[in-house]
Amino acid sequence: MTTTNMDQTTSVAACLTISIFFLTIKMIKRRTLHQEGPSLPPAVSVVSLSAYLPTFLSKGLSAVIQDLHTKMGSVFTISLFGLKKVTFLVGPEVTAHFFQGSESEIRQSDIYKVTVPVFGRGVLYDVDLATRSRQISFCLDSIKPMNLRGHVDSMVKEVEDYFTKWEQHGVVDIKHEMGNLILLIANRCLLGKQFRENMFEEVSTLAHDIFDNGFHLISLFFPYLPIPPHHRRDKARAKLGEMIHEVVRSRRSSGQAENDVLQKFVDSKYINGRSMTENEIAGLLICMMFAAQHTSSATSTWTGACLLSHGESYLAAAIEEQKRIMERHGEHIDYTILQEMGTLHCCIKEALRLHSPAILLIRHASKSFSVQTREGYKIDIPQGHTLATCTTVSSKLPYIYKDPDVYDPSRFGPGREEDKVGGKFSYTPFSAGRHFCLGEDFAYTQIKVIWSHLLRNFELELISPFPKEEWDKFIPGPKGKVMVSYKRRRLT
Ligand code: HEM
Repeated sequence: MTTTNMDQTTSVAACLTISIFFLTIKMIKRRTLHQEGPSLPPAVSVVSLSAYLPTFLSKGLSAVIQDLHTKMGSVFTISLFGLKKVTFLVGPEVTAHFFQGSESEIRQSDIYKVTVPVFGRGVLYDVDLATRSRQISFCLDSIKPMNLRGHVDSMVKEVEDYFTKWEQHGVVDIKHEMGNLILLIANRCLLGKQFRENMFEEVSTLAHDIFDNGFHLISLFFPYLPIPPHHRRDKARAKLGEMIHEVVRSRRSSGQAENDVLQKFVDSKYINGRSMTENEIAGLLICMMFAAQHTSSATSTWTGACLLSHGESYLAAAIEEQKRIMERHGEHIDYTILQEMGTLHCCIKEALRLHSPAILLIRHASKSFSVQTREGYKIDIPQGHTLATCTTVSSKLPYIYKDPDVYDPSRFGPGREEDKVGGKFSYTPFSAGRHFCLGEDFAYTQIKVIWSHLLRNFELELISPFPKEEWDKFIPGPKGKVMVSYKRRRLT
């Protein structure tokens, strides 16, 4: 070993020792405080956090939070040079208020202001609470089960057409395929036939420019920084906005109605009877596309990767389930038949538990509040703290999920239902409470349409190593290509 290497090693070891020393002091301090009554969360400074840099770079943010959770407990604060305090709350015992607190106590809007350049002015996080709540209810209504039923035929058609283009056998990057397919479905069901048939390529390029350039790490802190990715985002956002405005205008003037979310927005009215403006409709559609795209394509890819690598018996069970359903209904698929796919549902749900794309949910504490930990300690969270919960860490708590790192879809099945037994906030990949994901049913519906088709029509094998997680993305998915070989077959 050279002298320089030794110096580096010694410095790293010294840093680690100092960090561990400070962490230990903080923990002892916390224990002492607990014995005296309610206390502030134990805190860790950015300096101490530097010890976690190797973990962050090799395993990502979740692994760092997991380590901090193990060392510091279910509530802890990261102090950013004393300027900002981010308090983490992990697990169902301490997150009830985080999820359910009213906007005057637990604010979401400040944090989500970063979405304004993407969703646009005059919508969602750029408007007052009453208007935002109404706009969210427009989104919710547009894909409620009654309306979602009407989209299943379009989803099935998109999926069948897409896989018709596959050869008799071959090799594909399933992550790329899922990304394409989910975007096709979003074009068809959210934006409508006209976009899907005449403007798909352009929308894909624009969506890519908006979402991939709009949510760099730097965008979270400086969403308007004049940098090339933000210029690309703004140009693409303006163009997609114009395209949507034009279709809305043409539908309004012709009175022509379609079965898509855009139409539902055209028909929606505020309490005072006002219709949404073209700008509001474009903003909500872009929000829905953003919320649906990476989350669903990542989950669909993880479902495949899990089933094809460490879920052999679950893969067999999911195929058996398809056989049984085909015996009853033949090739036909509709919303009710999708509800019969309980095994496939659990396989997707378990992939999402292990690989949640929405790692961090963030809020602002507008008022101070207290939480009680599982161990019975009362902890005060001061007003002004930024609050965060980490879905991937909460989803692996060993007192809720048996062998939490193992892919085991039957944990959600009859007789176990570990998430329900664990309590209301035990399973949070779709968030919970006030800002619960309104697209959960839509997501399961499209992923089940895709995977039931694949299971019925192809023999599949994962031929690349099981993917690692992307750690450098706002909405992380599987890292790199996920190569799968396929061979056509007929399930009988
Ligand atoms: C597997 C797929 C999906 C996952 C994991 C997911 C996850 C989430 C999460 C965690 C939130 C809440 C964020 C927070 O609490 O701060 C959320 C909100 C939301 N999601 Fe999803 N989502 C998925 C699919 C979809 C789809 C398909 C749509 C629409 C078609 C959608 C529309 C929305 C909307 C509009 C919100 C905002 C709700 C609000 O602020 O009240 N999501 N999603």
